[in-house]
Amino acid sequence: MKTLTEQTTGVAHGKLILLGEHAVVYGEPAIALPFKAAPVRVKVSKTKEPSRILSSYYQGLLHDAPDSVSNITATINTVCDDLNQSADHLLISITSTIPPERGMGSSAAVATALVRALFAYFEKPLSSSKLLEYVDSSEEIAHGNPSGLDARVTSGEFPVFYKKGQILEPFPLNISGYLIVADTGIKGQTKQTVKDVAKLMTEFPEQTTDVVRSIGRLTVEAKAAIENNEIERLGKLLNQAHAHLKQLNVSNKQLDTLVATAITQGALGAKLTGGGRGGCIIALSGTIQEAETIAGKLAEQGAVDTWIHALGADNNE
Ligand code: MEV
Repeated sequence: MKTLTEQTTGVAHGKLILLGEHAVVYGEPAIALPFKAAPVRVKVSKTKEPSRILSSYYQGLLHDAPDSVSNITATINTVCDDLNQSADHLLISITSTIPPERGMGSSAAVATALVRALFAYFEKPLSSSKLLEYVDSSEEIAHGNPSGLDARVTSGEFPVFYKKGQILEPFPLNISGYLIVADTGIKGQTKQTVKDVAKLMTEFPEQTTDVVRSIGRLTVEAKAAIENNEIERLGKLLNQAHAHLKQLNVSNKQLDTLVATAITQGALGAKLTGGGRGGCIIALSGTIQEAETIAGKLAEQGAVDTWIHALGADNNE
């Protein structure tokens, strides 16, 4: 039995998709990496009062929580039920530095940190497969039909080459270059864009399948480009992927503007990352100086935040 002063903590981090978003839902591969510059921390402690959630999305009683956080409340209730523990008298505090709904895996990271914190609180061992079951269910509520990619990358330590239903392949991004990440400041719409692509798939199966397969081929080629340290080739593949994502109608004006700005400023390639229609872009550069110039111009063009992430053998963690 925990005392009122004891608390447990679960952590997770954001993710970036280099290539393959949306297509990964249809069985094509994706390459994604942990984005440790954006951590999430969930703390669980005992309270005499009814259970409460403290977060930037919602502050209040667990049983009054709105539908917008049903992925979180369902995860709390399911974990407590499965562990034969009461969901009363818990104080759950969520601190996330991942901008929410920006294609950085915020919902999966929060679910991961939450499950870890609850298992630690109830002093139960948690295997990674059990963790993924909970996070996959939470993501189904958040996103409708998730590929499972976000769950695996926000809880993992290494970049991955991922195909739905297959064993996760750690994939070191041994390439000399820099990723510039820029946030449009607009909430992305992963649930809606995943739904809209599914609708396109039903209404125009041949054309949509062609686009999805093309993205899959680009991802496989990107894997080879990374393995051969061919950064210019990788940049071109990012550009082609963005064009295909536009065909799937998941980009928007702000994303396209930031992508075009990055290219004009000398990026080797750029694309949206994540679910799209808001959220972030990534751009690729060969040197840190170029990355800084590009990041500066993206900020001038309206990016509310930018990050520079060094790729390469020593920088993947
Ligand atoms: C969202 O981060 C990535 C998507 O491919 C959806 C998914 O993989 O579940 C758009």
